[in-house]
Amino acid sequence: MNKYVVILAAGKGTRMKSQLYKVLHKVCGKTMVEHVVDAAKGTNPDKIITVVGNGADSVKDVLAGQSEFAFQEKQLGTGDAVMATSDLLENLDGSTLVATGDTPLFTAETFNNLFKKHAESGNSATVLTAKAPNPFGYGRIIRDEDGNVLRIVEQKDGTPEELAVDEINTGVFCFDNKELFKALKQVGNDNAQGEYYLTDVLEIMRKAGHKVGAYEMPDFSESLGVNDRIALAQATKIMQRRINEKHMKNGVSFIDPDTAYIDGDVKIGNDTVIEGNVVIKGKTEIGSDCYITNSSRIIDSKIGNHVTITSSTLQEAQMDDNTDIGPNSHLRPKAIIRKGAHIGNFVEIKKAEIGEDSKVGHLTYVGDATLGKDINIGCGTIFSNYDGVKKFHTNVGDHSFIGAGATIIAPVNIADHAFVAADSTITKDVDKYDMAIARGRQTNKPDYWHKLPLSKDKDWE
Ligand code: UD1
Ligand code: CA
Repeated sequence: MNKYVVILAAGKGTRMKSQLYKVLHKVCGKTMVEHVVDAAKGTNPDKIITVVGNGADSVKDVLAGQSEFAFQEKQLGTGDAVMATSDLLENLDGSTLVATGDTPLFTAETFNNLFKKHAESGNSATVLTAKAPNPFGYGRIIRDEDGNVLRIVEQKDGTPEELAVDEINTGVFCFDNKELFKALKQVGNDNAQGEYYLTDVLEIMRKAGHKVGAYEMPDFSESLGVNDRIALAQATKIMQRRINEKHMKNGVSFIDPDTAYIDGDVKIGNDTVIEGNVVIKGKTEIGSDCYITNSSRIIDSKIGNHVTITSSTLQEAQMDDNTDIGPNSHLRPKAIIRKGAHIGNFVEIKKAEIGEDSKVGHLTYVGDATLGKDINIGCGTIFSNYDGVKKFHTNVGDHSFIGAGATIIAPVNIADHAFVAADSTITKDVDKYDMAIARGRQTNKPDYWHKLPLSKDKDWE
């Protein structure tokens, strides 16, 4: 049996009060519509078609290569939206699962179950339903005394008795494909919203003598539909718990999983401990036995094994095995910290490699530089890389020592085993085994104290 998935994503999402089209709002780092496409892919369908309209180009960009597209010119309702796929689907044999792009929590398992229940039942239409704690806003499933599904009634069209029903339409259906298009042609728009409702297909099919039914899922939370920011936050909370539980099952410890905000594609090795109030985003990979403390923010970075990150921010950075950073340091794009290196507090590193076992302990800026192994960078060192127009590069060789407070004005090469005296301003290359010292010489003036104005304030001995 061929399987197709149609995802409705043409609406504007007025209730979001946003410049951004609704289905492009993100839940744990991924747009809602991509979450739905991910679940759809998990059913190995022969086709995935996304119906686009509002923000069509942006939605297509996000889903490029993952879906075919149908264009719905005007948003005349969910039935009209499915109709927009007719050129691509209408004449094909098989089952079609229709889902909406604003329900990001559905899993492939649920979609697979629905395909299976639908195939077993011999239905022409099977609606996925759930019992909602607060059914407001959803379509309600109206059944007869024997429990047979009669129709779906929208919030705005329902009578008080109908709206008292707590079994809701999750917005996901499975249809016999050809029967779906036959029925869609009969859907009218004589309802409170003047829209062509996909939900009307059920009653149309039933009246034409076809079997229709429902598959009630055990847990409502998967079916949460996001129409406003409140639901967006709820969906994020549920998705976050799911992500963190996956990591816990893989051997990651969380001090407080409720306040660890981790995107869905992040990878974390076992025996790593994540404290509370940590944000880990994008394509970040973290190895085993790491310790990430509170207030750390890690984006698109690669972290090896046995790494400690203390209240620091990392973006597009790399920390190899047995390194540490923080508190309060900042790795910016292309910062690479090699094995065994130590980055202390209040250090900023950008587009620079810190070699194995080197130490950048305190209050330092390293930009556009390549540092070798076993180097010590003293407190308050500045790699002065920018002349207001261009950036310049600095090299520091293995086993060198840069004294505290040095300013290194790029471009400059400091060789292996070089020594830069504290507070030097380095503008010239330094050779192997040389010491560079570039600062005013100290002069001491004997007894000068007594000539100073402050010496007149009091009787000093
Ligand atoms: C819809 C269902 C409701 C169900 C709920 C589940 C209908 C009539 N109602 O209501 O029974 O309980 O979903 O979440 O189907 N869309 C289009 N083109 C359109 C209209 C909508 O592509 O012309 C898309 C939207 O982008 C959205 C989805 O369809 O992703 C659902 O539309 P929405 O307006 O959110 O429907 P609900 O009121 O939530
Ligand atoms: Ca909706």
